[in-house]
Amino acid sequence: MRAFDPDSFTQSCIDALVEHDPADAIRELIQRAVSEPRSLELACPVPLDASDDGIIHRSDAIMVCHAIFPRRFQTGIHNHGVEAVIGVWSGFEDNHLFEEAGGRLRTLVPRRVEAGEVLVLGADAIHDVHTPPTMWSAALHVYLGDISTVSRSAWASADDAASAFDGEQQQRHWTEVAVATGLVVE
Ligand SMILES: [Fe+2]
Repeated sequence: MRAFDPDSFTQSCIDALVEHDPADAIRELIQRAVSEPRSLELACPVPLDASDDGIIHRSDAIMVCHAIFPRRFQTGIHNHGVEAVIGVWSGFEDNHLFEEAGGRLRTLVPRRVEAGEVLVLGADAIHDVHTPPTMWSAALHVYLGDISTVSRSAWASADDAASAFDGEQQQRHWTEVAVATGLVVE
C-alpha cells in the first residue's frame, strides 16, 4: 500500500479549480482518497508532532489541510466564508449545522460524516464540529479560498451574536485538548 501523496493530491485539487463545479470535482478527489484510509494513515501518523499545523497547501484560491481532531473536541460554531469539502477517513465528525435567519442562528438537521464519507459545505455554511468521545477523528479539509485571511465569524452559542473568528484562539484550544488526550506529543 502506497502512502497518500499530499503533493499530487494538492495538484489535483488545484487542477480541479478550473472545472465547471470545482467543489464537486474536489469532492470526487477526496472521496477517492478517503476510500483508502490505510494510505492516509501511513502519510499522517498519530500521535502528531506539536509543530504540525495540518496545512498541506495554502494560496488565495485554495487551502488543503489534513485535519486531525482530538477525541471529545468541539470546534465551536463558526463559518468559513468559502466553500469547503470535508472527507473523513478515521472516526467521525458530527456537524451541527446552522443558518442565519433574521439576525439569529437557526439550528438545522445535524449531519454525521463517517469515515469514508464526504461533505460539501457552501460558502454560507455555519457549523460546530464535534468528534467521537473515545477516539480522535481524521479528515481531509479542502477550502476554496484561504480561510486564514477570509473575514470569518464565530458564535459562542446559537443565541449569541456573531463575533470575529479568532484563528489563534482556535489553535490554542486544539493544542490544549490534543495534548491532554495524547493526540500530540510535545
Ligand atoms: Fe469548519
